[in-house]
Amino acid sequence: MKLISLVSVALTCTSTVLAGSVLWCGSFNYYTSVSQFDQWSWSTPVGEYQWYIHGSQPTSHYLALDPTYKNPADTPEARGLKLTVDSTSHWNSNFERSELIPQTNQNLGTGELFYHFSLAIDKNYPPDPTVEHQIVFFESHFTELKFGVSPNATQLEWMIQSVAKWSTPIVAGTWYNFAYDINFSAGTVGLWASTNGDPLVRVMPNLPASTSTNSEDWHLGVLSFGSLTEVWYFSGVYVENGPITTSISAGCGGSTTTTTSSTTTSSTTSTSSSTSTSSSTSSSTSTSTSSTTKSSSTSTSTSTTTSSSTSKSSSTSTSTSTSAGATVTKYGQCGGTGYTGPTNCASGSTCKAVSPPYYYQVCLIVPSLTPEFPY
Ligand SMILES: *[C@@H]1O[C@H](CO)[C@@H](O)[C@H](O)[C@H]1NC(C)=O
Ligand SMILES: *[C@@H]1O[C@H](CO)[C@@H](O)[C@H](O)[C@H]1NC(C)=O
Repeated sequence: MKLISLVSVALTCTSTVLAGSVLWCGSFNYYTSVSQFDQWSWSTPVGEYQWYIHGSQPTSHYLALDPTYKNPADTPEARGLKLTVDSTSHWNSNFERSELIPQTNQNLGTGELFYHFSLAIDKNYPPDPTVEHQIVFFESHFTELKFGVSPNATQLEWMIQSVAKWSTPIVAGTWYNFAYDINFSAGTVGLWASTNGDPLVRVMPNLPASTSTNSEDWHLGVLSFGSLTEVWYFSGVYVENGPITTSISAGCGGSTTTTTSSTTTSSTTSTSSSTSTSSSTSSSTSTSTSSTTKSSSTSTSTSTTTSSSTSKSSSTSTSTSTSAGATVTKYGQCGGTGYTGPTNCASGSTCKAVSPPYYYQVCLIVPSLTPEFPY
């Protein structure tokens, strides 16, 4: 029952040194062993993270925890995450995928929020610049990092709607700290960044984006179009309300967990029609009490959205797009669940699905990048 305590800790995770209030804390302090990631399931949604997007090998093949895997400047964090993708990492596709998703009852898609994380690459297993990587992305790709795509394929690029806005060289041995500055009210996203122990500074202003999340479609991890083994490191993961916390040593990992009882039930159903409409309903009820925080919470939420749910890998969706005429630029969106825009891809590119289970589709230069797709 130990890990179940994480549910309530996540709801109450705060630290006095943070500028904003933490809505969701993705600290790996709550995980002493990677086997705890396996305790999460759709029927038992415990812990900080959903863990279902990964290959066929045991979790320990893809995830590892150790004090040396974190940004050393993030002092509240006891450990960081080593994340591997390799030729066994296929999940519902021919992509290499190892991705964690927040498990929380909080609304991570309202107001102005800061999505914090730090990452590093491994000198022995660096990312392959000849293939596309989607790194720490939202399911709809309204913002994300990429590597291996134009215009600066050898750099880590920050994207809005698959268009590069900012980039940085990336070398092993350096930690790269980021916060996506997302104003869901205004429909804008900006970027804060720094390296190692330096405080975050704004590197890009907030720019228009189709900001949205169902609070469980932010993918902390890597989707690679390649076939090589790659190792990435992550720490300092949390989502806060503003004002932004710029100090890297002020992560949310300071909270500790003790005996807690909790019951959580959740059910999700997802249906998709054969047209471009899909529907999803979900409800969850959580009751938790925490002896450390002397707080208890009961929440019930029901939501109905017009996008499909990430919650079932078995869900099916098919998209059709009705607009014709306009041409979509390379890497622009050309289809996917709920998409109704233009579908004609620029010369030299083809519309392909890139991100199940939403079946988001973009114009890709396909022959050289992606030998085969299951859709
Ligand atoms: C690509 O890299 C160059 C040189 O570092 C930089 O000036 C340019 O802004 C980058 N482009 C993007 C979209 O980040
Ligand atoms: C977010 O956008 C709204 C609407 O434009 C604006 O009123 C608000 O000030 C923005 N939030 C912040 C913190 O800038």
